[in-house]
Amino acid sequence: MQPSSLLSSLHSSINLHSTPSLSLLPPSSSSSSSSSFLSFHSSSSLHFTPLNVSFSPLHATSPTKTKGLSFRVTCASTNQPLKVMISGAPASGKGTQCELIVQKFGLVHISTGDLLRAEVSAGTEIGNKAKEFMNAGQLVPDEIVTAMVTTRLSREDAKEKGWLLDGYPRSFSQAESLEKLKIRPDVYVVLDVPDEILIDRCIGRKLDPVTGKIYHLKNFPPETEEIKARLVTRPDDTEEKVKSRLDIYKQNAKSISSTYSNIMKKVNGNRPKEMVFKDVESLLSQAQGEKVKTATSGKPALKSEDSWKGIPTRLNNIPHSREIRNYFYDDVLQATQRAVNDGRTRLRVDINIPELNPEMDVYRIGTLMELVRVLALSFADDGKRVKVCVQGSMGEGALAGMPLQLAGTRKILEFMDWGNEGAMGTFINIGSIGAKEVGEQDDMFILVAPQNAVGNCIIDDLRAMTDVAGQRPVILINPRLKDLPGSSGIMQTMGREERLVYAASFESCYFFRLLYYMGTQYPIMGALRMSYPYRYELYKRVDEAPGKEKYVILATFPEKPNSDEINDAFLGKPRNQAKKASGFWGFLSGVF
Ligand code: AP5
Repeated sequence: MQPSSLLSSLHSSINLHSTPSLSLLPPSSSSSSSSSFLSFHSSSSLHFTPLNVSFSPLHATSPTKTKGLSFRVTCASTNQPLKVMISGAPASGKGTQCELIVQKFGLVHISTGDLLRAEVSAGTEIGNKAKEFMNAGQLVPDEIVTAMVTTRLSREDAKEKGWLLDGYPRSFSQAESLEKLKIRPDVYVVLDVPDEILIDRCIGRKLDPVTGKIYHLKNFPPETEEIKARLVTRPDDTEEKVKSRLDIYKQNAKSISSTYSNIMKKVNGNRPKEMVFKDVESLLSQAQGEKVKTATSGKPALKSEDSWKGIPTRLNNIPHSREIRNYFYDDVLQATQRAVNDGRTRLRVDINIPELNPEMDVYRIGTLMELVRVLALSFADDGKRVKVCVQGSMGEGALAGMPLQLAGTRKILEFMDWGNEGAMGTFINIGSIGAKEVGEQDDMFILVAPQNAVGNCIIDDLRAMTDVAGQRPVILINPRLKDLPGSSGIMQTMGREERLVYAASFESCYFFRLLYYMGTQYPIMGALRMSYPYRYELYKRVDEAPGKEKYVILATFPEKPNSDEINDAFLGKPRNQAKKASGFWGFLSGVF
């Protein structure tokens, strides 16, 4: 039996406040501010304002042509057209692969290099500006290129047929511009070719100005003498300029790929172009297949990140209102579903609203249980058999204890209201942590706050469990896998490194943490949030009027920022400026 509409009974409260009193936070304060003595910078340095430039439609399309197709995948059939980015060093074969991709998948090819060359040859204002940078083998200023790309992406054909973005983003700030506009590809293909090959490829490259086709004097010579006679060489294809372009590519590649690390696919581009295309084609077909599957599975469409409502306010009001709790449950659920649908199998959720922060005495085990119930019922509603696991008592004799915050958890789970659809015992089962808990019928596992306790380490049981679980998703909710000091000192020494590596193998799919001044838990200064597959977002809490607050975004990060980066963002300092947190700005130190 598959439970349907299990979610209808989700939010019946279980009312289990472990500590109803509140000592650190004023009971009904809505994080009122002492921030007025701090002069935060109110605007984000990451704002993107497209330039007011217009492009002639003639030049706005890529010259890539499509020719006699044997078979074309119709990407628009799901109303979810494919979105692809292709990247790689100069002459890694992006343009060559794009010709083949367009033939097969019918995507709209948007090549910034081609768009710029079209502007240059048309002698437009933009072309004249871009020319000097291009001829020197340097990047054209972001404002020009970004405006060009976003204008082109917003056209109907790209929305309908899907797009293939070639040569953009080429710097971290370009990637950030797209992220801010919520423009994300389904797959990010990187062509990998050794440097020495790249230089030879550039020097031998010839272009046909009539068809836009790319040739190489040795590798792909022109078909006829007539074509050969009209071929041209790009002005930036000299050895010296290629080296400069290659340097620039290398300087930027890492920061861009970190933005897309979860969808990045590297392809060996140092093979005949047909072989390279085989790999590219299979990656794109796979991405397309996944889109079709999601669109036709009848599952409720995930709310897009665009509809995210922002951070809820009054988070210092404890207990949290039902709306606030539901808000976070929903936020975690969406991120987790996206990650599981993307085939991620080792996941962790870290949510530290006051009621779920074990370091605060307003911690409520009931809130944790409610969150677990929302996740489990939702996955069960999708037809998955979910095992919800809580670690049992650990160790022996005097050490046979269990972490305080988990005491009674299993009983609570068993007594909870799991709806009237019979999910409990069929699609949802309760177990503990360990290899023998993994049944053949289980499709996935949700582990409730697995944690090391003094003198005892949960990681061996966890590892044994994940070994047996194989490719089935294992989701840790608020794990605490750091070593804890024990009287024997064993945990600090034996196998420590291995344990840390194992703990780090779980990928974060949701992160939320409130930020305070160093050493305090009041007032709330801001928040850090990450929802898979998006970036870490740093927010500042601002008092608009007495009793009225809001959160404004300050910056985004591809990886979890450290406290220096957070401090710098609060101070409005440019990124990457090495600086230690100091003075009262050290408020975030120690948070992580
Ligand atoms: P752009 O045109 O994008 O140049 P690029 O990235 O340097 O890439 P190329 O076009 O040189 O190479 P490719 O990877 O497409 O290789 P191709 O298929 O042609 O940009 C040019 C300039 O515009 C930049 O330098 C910059 O100034 C500006 N610009 C562009 N985007 C920008 C941005 N976002 N921001 C700022 N500025 C920007 O292949 C190369 C050769 O190898 C060909 O001869 C081909 O026949 C051959 N070949 C291809 N595949 C194979 C294979 N598998 N085996 C053997 N030979 C092969």
